[in-house]
Amino acid sequence: MPDDYRKTLIRQIAQHAHSEIVGMLPEANWVTRAPSLKRKAIALAKIQDEAGHGLYLYSACETLGVDRDDLLEELHSGKAKYSSIFNYPTLTWADMGAVGWLVDGAAIMNQVPLCRTSYGPYGRAMVRVCKEESFHQRQGYDTLLALVRGSEEQKKMAQDALNRWWWPSLMMFGPADADSKHTAQSMAWKIKRFTNDELRQKFVDATVPQAELLGLTIPDPDLKWNEERGHYDFGEINWDEFYNVIKGNGACNKQRVHDRKAAWDNGAWVREAATAYQEKKSKSNNTVAA
Ligand SMILES: [Fe+2]
Ligand SMILES: [Fe+2]
Repeated sequence: MPDDYRKTLIRQIAQHAHSEIVGMLPEANWVTRAPSLKRKAIALAKIQDEAGHGLYLYSACETLGVDRDDLLEELHSGKAKYSSIFNYPTLTWADMGAVGWLVDGAAIMNQVPLCRTSYGPYGRAMVRVCKEESFHQRQGYDTLLALVRGSEEQKKMAQDALNRWWWPSLMMFGPADADSKHTAQSMAWKIKRFTNDELRQKFVDATVPQAELLGLTIPDPDLKWNEERGHYDFGEINWDEFYNVIKGNGACNKQRVHDRKAAWDNGAWVREAATAYQEKKSKSNNTVAA
């Protein structure tokens, strides 16, 4: 395997794994405040799925010869990146709907082509991830559907969530193709099968009719169907905001890394207990074998 190919995969898969587990944080915020037992159970299941996605991806990454603890250390020290979307706060219950619909929806657009990426362990991990992401997307849409069918106040809450999450969701596809330093090489290696701008366009085209069905307005005055292109035209993304959040200046960057570190430290006893149990078990297995 060429060294640069390996390095690129490690960067991408680790970044993806980090995004899965950091993505649990904005949602955990709502477990105790979900409006019903049903919604609480759904939120818990979704958050647990994201932990599982992290595990598959860290495992896939380890097949490339890196150590999971080192990857986590890079996340905790701020050296490794994760999706900038998780540095935005989830202020209301409607945000849980918008996150499922838009953020998981954008993740699906990105990840379905990755099921056929050129590195097998990554592609195989993506198959199950995508099935679960599509459940996440639907539960988000269903949450918003319930809100838009509710009171005026609930409908307003749904619109407000869409207003805040729309643009950051478009940023999830990464920089414009002209400014993306990795895209051309990753396409040549067939790690990526579509460019950032192609995926962003697919997402806009798929999501606009879904917003119409909800009776919500996408916060983009330039959004318009282009008959000639057969796609929606849309406005310019605020790239200053995008790069600013990536640099660590988003509303929640510090809090997210702090919470991840705390989760790692508070979980030390679980890792120690699991290791001790494993050692005890393998000792008694050896005794039986002898
Ligand atoms: Fe996920
Ligand atoms: Fe998800």
